[in-house]
This record gives sequence, structure tokens and C-alpha cells, in this order.
Amino acid sequence: MSSDGTTSFAFDESRSADLVVAAMAGAKNERLHQVMESVIRHLHAVVKEVKPTEEEWMAAIKFLTETGHMCTERRQEFILFSDTFGVSMLIDAINHHKPSGATETTVLGPFHVASSPIRQMGDTINLEGKGEPLIVSGRVVDEAGKPIEGATLDVWQANSEGYYDVQQKGIQPDMNLRGRFITGADGRYWFRSSKPLFYPIPHDGPVGALLRNLGRHPYRPAHIHFIVSAPGYQAVVTHLFVKDDPYLESDVVFGVKDSLVCEVTQHDDVKAAAEVGVENPFWSLQHEFKLVR
Ligand code: BEZ
Ligand code: FE
Repeated sequence: MSSDGTTSFAFDESRSADLVVAAMAGAKNERLHQVMESVIRHLHAVVKEVKPTEEEWMAAIKFLTETGHMCTERRQEFILFSDTFGVSMLIDAINHHKPSGATETTVLGPFHVASSPIRQMGDTINLEGKGEPLIVSGRVVDEAGKPIEGATLDVWQANSEGYYDVQQKGIQPDMNLRGRFITGADGRYWFRSSKPLFYPIPHDGPVGALLRNLGRHPYRPAHIHFIVSAPGYQAVVTHLFVKDDPYLESDVVFGVKDSLVCEVTQHDDVKAAAEVGVENPFWSLQHEFKLVR
């Protein structure tokens, strides 16, 4: 009780956030206190602005509960929530300010597999042979444009039906459309694959339902994922996107950056196709990755 007869912890709408923040005064972890103070102040401000009914607040709690229930070893619905509302890209931007010209980063996504097979330059990653043949090639260089030897390109992509191998265990071969390539002294890489297509992110859960209710589609523009790393350099988690994809301007996870959009060229050349070991006609995509120390 304070000197004027009021209880300092008694609830008061106008001071609601202050009351909760005061209750955390004993926090031993300063960063936790700072984060939670900000979360509480913003949350109370949202509630005061939106003035949810009790039914609306219960709907929000139900959404979060269903999001938790949707999570398994293979499915992380909270990350999908973060991805589809731009938070994953914002966290990425805050943590990876790159000098201009260096390869830009984008979302990791849920389908990366650590320790995928090491493959030889020129190998195909398309183990089921579906889709239109694509040759992906280029170099990994440093900021001065010098080739980096011993750089690893960890690559993965969806098949021509829009699914990753890990989403179709027993349907696609394990490690289909993924692998790691290690550059030689010339910094060059090349591999055979299939031309990626746009595909929907998993949208059979609460996040998919929320997107539909907001009039949003679940599609990502066609892309190939890369983690490019080399000893002594910062690794980049990124994608290469296919130019002219209909979803480049509305990626459901806001992952597109101009510097990552690549021309994909069609070739009708029987001799060239035979030389690189693909069927004619085929597509090609070239990109130089620039890493920083
Ligand atoms: C992906 O590109 O694999 C992906 C990224 C974010 C959410 C879902 C999928
Ligand atoms: Fe993807």
C-alpha cells in the first residue's frame, strides 16, 4: 500500500504495461528483461489499439495453440509463421549487412539437410530424372574477384512437382535434388539439375488458413537454395531465383532480392546437350558468388 492508500500493484488500464514491467524488476538476465519489456509494451499497445473482443482474443490463443500442435520433427509451423510475415527476412537483414557486390542472403527455409552427399563437378542432383534439364554453373570469388579454392556449395531444390525429397520420403529417392560441390583452384562449379518451378509452401495448417483469410497465396517463385562457404569467409545462405517467374513480386516469404534473380536461357543444340550430358533442349543458369572475409 502506498502513502495515498492505493495498492501499487492494483490493475490500472492506463498503466497496464508499466505494472507488468515493474513486476520483472528482479530479472537477472538484462537482455531477457530488455526484450520482454519491449514485447510487453508493444503487446499492450496493440491490445489498446485493436481492442479485441474476448472471442477475438480466444481465436488468437487458438491459432497459437494449433500452430504448436502442427509442429513435428519435420514440420515447424512457427518458422512458417515467421517466414510468411516477413520476420525471418528481417532477422536475416539485421544480422547480415553485406558490403555492396557481395552475395546477398535470404531465408534458409525448412528443407535443408545437413551433410548431403559430396558430389563431383558436373554430376546431376536430379536422381529421379523428372523435369526439364538445367545446367547451373559459375564461380565462387572473393571481394577482389579472385577465385576461391575449396569453397563448398551446398545445394537443394524442389522437384518439378514442387516437393523436396524430405517431403516425399519413399516417393522421391533420398537426397534427390541436393548435394555439395567443392571448388578447385579456378573457383568454378557446375552441376546438372532440373529447371525449378514455383511451388506452394506447406499450407495445410493454421498458417495456410491465416494466409487464405488474408487473401494471400502460398507460393514461392522458382529458386535453387545454396549455402556457399569457404574457410576464412562468411558463409552465405541464399537462393538463385528464375527471372520471369510469376511469383517473383509476391514471394509468400518475402525472400527475393534483385541481385539473386538470374536469367535462365533455353538451348536447342543437340551437340552441346550431348557434351554436357543432358537431353536436348536444355536450360542454363550462371551465377558468380562473392564471399567476404
Ligand atoms: C523454401 O524455400 O524451401 C521455404 C522457405 C520458407 C518457408 C517454406 C519453404
Ligand atoms: Fe525452397
